[in-house]
Amino acid sequence: MKIVTASQKTKRHPDWQTVFSEVSRDQLPWFTQELDADVVKALDRFVPIDSLVWDLGCGEGTQSHLMADRGYRIIGTDVSQEAIAMAQDSFLPHEKLEFLVEDVFAARRVRAVDAIVDRGCFHVLSPAQVFSYIDRILPNLKDQGILILKSFAASSELDPGVGPHRYSEAQLKDILKPLKHLDSIEGQFMGPREYHPQSLTLVLKKGD
Ligand SMILES: C[S@@+](CC[C@H](N)C(=O)[O-])C[C@H]1O[C@@H](n2cnc3c(N)ncnc32)[C@H](O)[C@@H]1O
Repeated sequence: MKIVTASQKTKRHPDWQTVFSEVSRDQLPWFTQELDADVVKALDRFVPIDSLVWDLGCGEGTQSHLMADRGYRIIGTDVSQEAIAMAQDSFLPHEKLEFLVEDVFAARRVRAVDAIVDRGCFHVLSPAQVFSYIDRILPNLKDQGILILKSFAASSELDPGVGPHRYSEAQLKDILKPLKHLDSIEGQFMGPREYHPQSLTLVLKKGD
């Protein structure tokens, strides 16, 4: 399946080090002090408290902290050293939380997690990378483990179309087809800006 996403023509792959060096934490476009309602819904339904959860592409770590406060054991990883430095400097140490600098395509130190939460990493990868994404992350997930993946959705006329790629439910299901689809939840990507892009959160399971 050839992936053509709504933002393909305008896509810019940010230099993540620069983003995290130049933008303050609370002005990052995805920053929010709460967990998004769709992520909470997926966690509450499919991931028991105290599960080991990999927050993949955790950025400045706000969501990792919120999930740790909820009772999950969290490993937050990000390709950007600046992001992980911001995550480590912004919060007091938390016994249920650790941060690592790691590229998802070379993730070796995260092992046997009960669940993976990806809020906005998948949709910043290039369409050429997304098919190898699933091969890379699957070995790190336990059998019967859960993937919660939140992406910008192909959406309305209001959408300015810049930034991350947009995916339809059919595209996401196709790319993620090595996993069993459990649920799709429509929502929004909350953040400090006025416009909150439409999102799609897929919940999937490894194994039957
Ligand atoms: C839209 S931000 C989302 C941050 C965080 N998940 C949140 O919701 O607050 C996308 C994040 O993915 C990270 N990222 C991009 N490519 C990555 C890769 N190949 N491996 C790991 N992280 C990556 C970026 O550095 C950035 O922090």
